[in-house]
Amino acid sequence: IFSDSNEASIKVAEEIAALIRKKQKENKNCVLGLATGSSPIKVYEELVRMHKEEGLSFSNVITFNLDEYLPMEKDNRQSYWYFMHEHLFNHIDIPAENIHIPDGTILGGDVIKYCLAYEKAIKKAGGIDFQLLGIGRTGHIGFNEPGSHYNSATRVITLDHITRVDAAPAFLGIDNVPRKAITMGISTVRSAKRIVLLGWGQNKADIIKKTIEGEVSSEVPATYLQQHNNCTFVLDTGAGSELT
Ligand code: F6R
Repeated sequence: IFSDSNEASIKVAEEIAALIRKKQKENKNCVLGLATGSSPIKVYEELVRMHKEEGLSFSNVITFNLDEYLPMEKDNRQSYWYFMHEHLFNHIDIPAENIHIPDGTILGGDVIKYCLAYEKAIKKAGGIDFQLLGIGRTGHIGFNEPGSHYNSATRVITLDHITRVDAAPAFLGIDNVPRKAITMGISTVRSAKRIVLLGWGQNKADIIKKTIEGEVSSEVPATYLQQHNNCTFVLDTGAGSELT
């Protein structure tokens, strides 16, 4: 628990940078699972700064984003594709072909095939070395809403009402928030070798308490992280304020 989320974000960025550099020395790719939303913004800002000022290269980095709204065009300002390019990819030297973000334009029967291919691509890359997560007020990680199964893989999900309420300001009204999304599953996230979840602010305090101190249950999908052997929650004092 940090008093300041900026300081905490810099620590997380330093861990990611150290892993990228270690993999570079070993001549290996570094596979990152990435989140969008407000929580990781400062981490990305710091990684961009390290690229520009310290020469941190992302040439050996392969990324897989957690989720994307469905339907969603890439060039829509609300898309996670847009978010990731604006906050990270446009400012670093990652090869374009190394970037994977679920495609919100896939429709109909092709979606299942697409989700299976997304899982396959993660495995082919060697699995996720480091997974960055935020947490929703429903206890979702990625868009794995309450009811998500421990063994779930990348799939289409119906967004919880609370999640759509939280997204409404960005979409200028709840009616404009998509009802569905493509998300990596709980098993996809669980198979990452290292997981770091970011939680900032008082409005996350209640769900953080349930996630860390509550029983493991599909009602709060983030509780599944209790069973991961290399997972750290990085919080500020607001988000950690209800922990006993
Ligand atoms: C985003 C994602 C979500 C967010 C969560 C928290 O890719 O997977 O689980 O991490 O909704 O969002 P913020 O950080 O905006 O509070």
